[in-house]
Amino acid sequence: MPEPTTEPTTEPITGPTQEPVPPSGPLPEGRRRYAVVGTGHRASMYVDALIGTHAPDGEIVAWVEPNPVRAAAYEARVAAAFGGVRPVYGPDDLEKAIAEQSVDRVIVTSIDRTHGDLVTRALRAGADVVVEKPIAAHPDQARQIVDAVAETGRDLVTTFNYRYSPRNSALREVIASGEIGRVLSVHFDWALDTVHGADYFRRWHREKVNNGGLLVHKSSHHFDLVNWWIDGVPQRVFATGGRRFYGDDGAHESGYEPTAGERALNERGIDPWQLSVEDNEWLSTLYGPEAQAVDGYVRNRSVFDAGITTEDTLGLVVEYEGGALLTYSLTAHAPWEGYRVVVNGTRGRAELEVTERGSVEFGDKAAILDPSATEVFEEDLVRPIGERLVVQRHWERAEERPIVRGGGGHGGGDALLLADVFRPSSEPDPLARAAGYVDGVRASSVGYAGNRSLETGAPVPVKDLNLGI
Ligand SMILES: NC(=O)c1ccc[n+]([C@@H]2O[C@H](COP(=O)([O-])OP(=O)(O)OC[C@H]3O[C@@H](n4cnc5c(N)ncnc54)[C@H](O)[C@@H]3O)[C@@H](O)[C@H]2O)c1
Repeated sequence: MPEPTTEPTTEPITGPTQEPVPPSGPLPEGRRRYAVVGTGHRASMYVDALIGTHAPDGEIVAWVEPNPVRAAAYEARVAAAFGGVRPVYGPDDLEKAIAEQSVDRVIVTSIDRTHGDLVTRALRAGADVVVEKPIAAHPDQARQIVDAVAETGRDLVTTFNYRYSPRNSALREVIASGEIGRVLSVHFDWALDTVHGADYFRRWHREKVNNGGLLVHKSSHHFDLVNWWIDGVPQRVFATGGRRFYGDDGAHESGYEPTAGERALNERGIDPWQLSVEDNEWLSTLYGPEAQAVDGYVRNRSVFDAGITTEDTLGLVVEYEGGALLTYSLTAHAPWEGYRVVVNGTRGRAELEVTERGSVEFGDKAAILDPSATEVFEEDLVRPIGERLVVQRHWERAEERPIVRGGGGHGGGDALLLADVFRPSSEPDPLARAAGYVDGVRASSVGYAGNRSLETGAPVPVKDLNLGI
């Protein structure tokens, strides 16, 4: 099987493929004591880090999770590495978990709508917090967090792994060097394909109340990148778009005819829009019948169901303090996955083009989930997987800039992020990649304002959200 040249930039849908190896020899005393809150798919990055490379930095002492089946799956991984037993607490007992297990720091990887409550309570119960993006699904929940940080003075980190991708860091370096001058505008187009994009419509993400819609859940990654790339503060947002493709009244109901390939699969009882949960041991453990029997969480609902409220086709204009302008689009139903960014400055222009998956094709299974699991990308001459950063200054020829990749997820970016979270260096990072809660709120603020603009049809000043930052 060929090595992919890039990693998908979001959840590794296939789950952990190998057991992390605990370090040999005695572990240092006084490691930070961690509770993991929400033991779904995303928790694996943190849990595996604390079993493997970052075992010397911290240990997991408690799980906080309403579904004991999912918590047990993670407990088994940690027990296999270190032995012992870590208790599982329900969400209502978060404070008890922190007190009883002397937790220093909580990692929040629960569903987005719970972040505001859990982060706030963990801070007030005396723990520091690492929270997955988005910091909160809705502006009132973000404000609760801002107030709790101010009140407790505790540390809160929002993890934005995209900053650590070497290609995104390379663009930041180009802009920070000043070679394209002061940034005047950014154009950013993000395409999610019919495997990954569709995944936001198979489970809880499809109800906007759970995650603030893709403008908050997904695009907050992208808005954070722009804020960080240009060192900018978003000021006013106009958004348009909606749900045009998924749902019972989306594209399928407006003249869509299944292709020959879709028909052939349908005849064999396979829905190409579905995820083969049962074919993956880890996904089956987390979301299979045993877990589902506890809480009714269905991982694999039809993307053409009624009642979906999350938008799939979005366009935004964002004005930044100082006058820079962002035009942004998100498509959650594209035939390939990747993004294009153009940054126009007073001295020239930088362009980053990334293809994460050149096409989605289906064979005798439902849609292939993991881009590394098929050879089709190697053969795709028109849209090969890859990344290209081109800089062109006025009156000069274009130059392609090298992107230095490391090993592991996101071109080595995941390892760098985890190092920043678990073992921060005392040396300042010239790229300033570590994100605090203000960055987390600022990234989501564009999505919150965008949502309000979708409702009102008018541009929304970010200050009107009263986020307290
Ligand atoms: N940075 C990234 O690239 C990235 C990728 C994937 C997910 N995420 C984020 O990680 C988080 C989890 O996503 P996921 O894909 O693992 O979702 P998931 O549904 O697989 O897991 C969420 C878990 O939270 C649990 N939960 C629900 N309510 C809870 C509560 N009140 N308290 C504690 N736990 C609760 C659920 O039972 C489930 O086990 C989300 O915030 C998501 O945005 C980030």
